[in-house]
Amino acid sequence: MKSHLNGECWLDDDGNPIQAHGGGILEHNGVYYWYGENRDAVARKENGNKNYLGGGVAAYHSSDLVHWKSLSVVLKASDDPQHDLHVGNVLERPKVIYHPTSKKFVMWMHVDSQDYKMARAGVAVADDPAGPFRYLQSFRPNQFMSRDQTVFIDRDGIAYHIGASDNNATAMISQLSDDFLSPSRKFVKAFEKRYMEAFSFVEHAGKYWMLASGCTGWKPNQARSAVADHFMGPWQELANPCVGDGADLTFGGQSAYIIPAGRINRGPVAMFDIWRPDDLKTSGYVWLPITWKGGQMVIRHQPRWPNPMD
Ligand code: GAL
Repeated sequence: MKSHLNGECWLDDDGNPIQAHGGGILEHNGVYYWYGENRDAVARKENGNKNYLGGGVAAYHSSDLVHWKSLSVVLKASDDPQHDLHVGNVLERPKVIYHPTSKKFVMWMHVDSQDYKMARAGVAVADDPAGPFRYLQSFRPNQFMSRDQTVFIDRDGIAYHIGASDNNATAMISQLSDDFLSPSRKFVKAFEKRYMEAFSFVEHAGKYWMLASGCTGWKPNQARSAVADHFMGPWQELANPCVGDGADLTFGGQSAYIIPAGRINRGPVAMFDIWRPDDLKTSGYVWLPITWKGGQMVIRHQPRWPNPMD
């Protein structure tokens, strides 16, 4: 059975390196869609700025979370210097959720300027999970900064946007509007002065669990975790969930998303990026099952995804 080497930039079914960095997964009608940052932009800023993107959001689909077929770029960058998604801007951590009544696929992403001072959350929609996505607008949710971001749909159908706010010192959780297209006025701030990034969430055993990172840019740091009875909190911070060799630096990675338990994976799976800032398109992927012990999440390194022993 095919498997991928954790840490490498995995290949799609055509043998091309998968460009879905900082990504997330949507399961829809039995198909898995993997959306992420396409770092394979042709041009690069003359001053060699490592954050230059311009590649938009790429997507892949799969029936088994192992074989991935490219859907190419589903949200393109823009040549218009006034546009949020201008090729010289930053577009990171795209995540897609499905709205069951409007039947729209809603993508949220971090949009920023090269110097990361814009700190906004952008939203795009599509009628089909394979795109194309149409960019709508960006927000500072309730006027607060939003950087590393993700979205989460609760069991009751309410969706939330979570971003690093207050210059990354605080996590901000905003309830989205009923159509998922904008932040509502309901929000809370959590983990004040804990400087967290790379948020990802999963529901397990009736509680909400968070996996995140500290704030050291592209360099790996020790993972953070937390638990709550309600998504809006209060959140209780837990220990580093990673165990074993390399656990103090998240095995060289940074969290991107948690795939909930499903048809393929019996338990939730944490997706990490191994950033290679000198050539971001070669950044690797590490996917590891999450288990629980003594009220803590536990993540052990495994050489491959999926692990043949699982
Ligand atoms: C990381 C963040 C990445 C990217 C990077 C830029 O902390 O998680 O998504 O923004 O900083 O330095």
